[in-house]
Amino acid sequence: MNTAPSKTSPNPSLDAVQTVPIALDDGQRAYDILIGSALLDAPSSWQGLPKAAAALIVSNETVAPLYQERVRAQLLAHYPRVDVVQLPDGERFKDWDSMNLIFDQLLASASDRKTVLFALGGGVIGDMTGFAAAIYMRGVPFVQVPTTLLAQVDSSVGGKTAINHPLGKNMIGAFYQPARVIADLDTLDSLPQRELCAGLAEVIKYGPIADAGFLAWIESNLDALLARDKAALAYAVKRCCEIKAWVVGQDEREQGLRAILNFGHTFGHAIETGLGYGEWLHGEAVACGMVMASDLSVRLGLMPAEFLPRMRQLIERAGLPVLGPKLGAERYLDLMRVDKKAEGGAIRFVLIEGLGRAGMHAAPDDLVAQVLANHCVS
Ligand code: NAD
Ligand code: GLY
Repeated sequence: MNTAPSKTSPNPSLDAVQTVPIALDDGQRAYDILIGSALLDAPSSWQGLPKAAAALIVSNETVAPLYQERVRAQLLAHYPRVDVVQLPDGERFKDWDSMNLIFDQLLASASDRKTVLFALGGGVIGDMTGFAAAIYMRGVPFVQVPTTLLAQVDSSVGGKTAINHPLGKNMIGAFYQPARVIADLDTLDSLPQRELCAGLAEVIKYGPIADAGFLAWIESNLDALLARDKAALAYAVKRCCEIKAWVVGQDEREQGLRAILNFGHTFGHAIETGLGYGEWLHGEAVACGMVMASDLSVRLGLMPAEFLPRMRQLIERAGLPVLGPKLGAERYLDLMRVDKKAEGGAIRFVLIEGLGRAGMHAAPDDLVAQVLANHCVS
């Protein structure tokens, strides 16, 4: 696989809105990702969206008080009625009960099948709102307004929507694309540092899977990202979205290539499910999972030995965990057998095959157990 092409300057202008197009079905379901400062209050961010008698902003009890009224004010210029619903905050609420609150609000207000949903929040709100939009009256339009770094670089883009099941992460869901993604970098100002670091895990992911140059850029600019330097964040968000657009444009429904976006996720989802949702943040679990998957890449002879310390050092510098919880190898393996990439109970890992190149691989259980022994707390 070739490195994802880049149209991005490492020094983007902060005054201009950066646009990354997502091309699907020869343009029929194409949409734009808007990236920039002050986008929430810019009327142009909200123009040209699907018309309807009503819009519904879905947010949570943390994000709504910060940003909901500003979004509502903009939407009132386009929709005669703008409703709001606030879900409980947290990964452990990414379930049917919370999603039903969206349907309760839609049905109580007799919202029709043109109603546009706006997901205002992080990946949990985005994934749940997208799934609700996919199935309410068999599908209504929705718009992603991501407010975490993780959501801006990954979850708001590409149309994966889901809720968790107690036995497996993101197991109930649909592919359903938004009509637009509006990523206002200024919303990251209020993000807790732990959440910013969790988002950096997904930023780091894009380097080894698709762009060796971007990996080197992250290594050089990690301190600026941790300090929330706007120009560094703008470049990181745009480059990640470009790579994701390039992948999703070729393989929307994960028949092959799209699986590379799950680097670190097979181990990571096992950590999240094994500990109970919300114990570790998604990005933290993915970070630790990337260390494990890097080790497996080395053990299978796909990467030179120095790749593992390079990844471990970067992840540690980003304030992310490099040692997994002690669940026991058997429990890890059982959890990974229900991963969506598993086939007939055989676990398949996304491994790095060269800097900027990834692919799917099986691995013997005893080798995976050695990796776990090396990278879990003792
Ligand atoms: P999250 O949605 O739980 O948000 C993290 C925390 O930050 C929450 O407490 C939230 O209320 C708070 N928050 C959000 N924006 C804020 C802001 N601007 N200021 C202050 N606080 C703010 O977590 P996340 O990391 O954004 O997303 C993780 C979820 O995304 C997981 O469920 C994961 O499975 C999913 N995900 C989906 C995809 C996809 O392709 N659909 C990709 C990656 C991750
Ligand atoms: N975050 C994985 C994907 O979108 O495919």
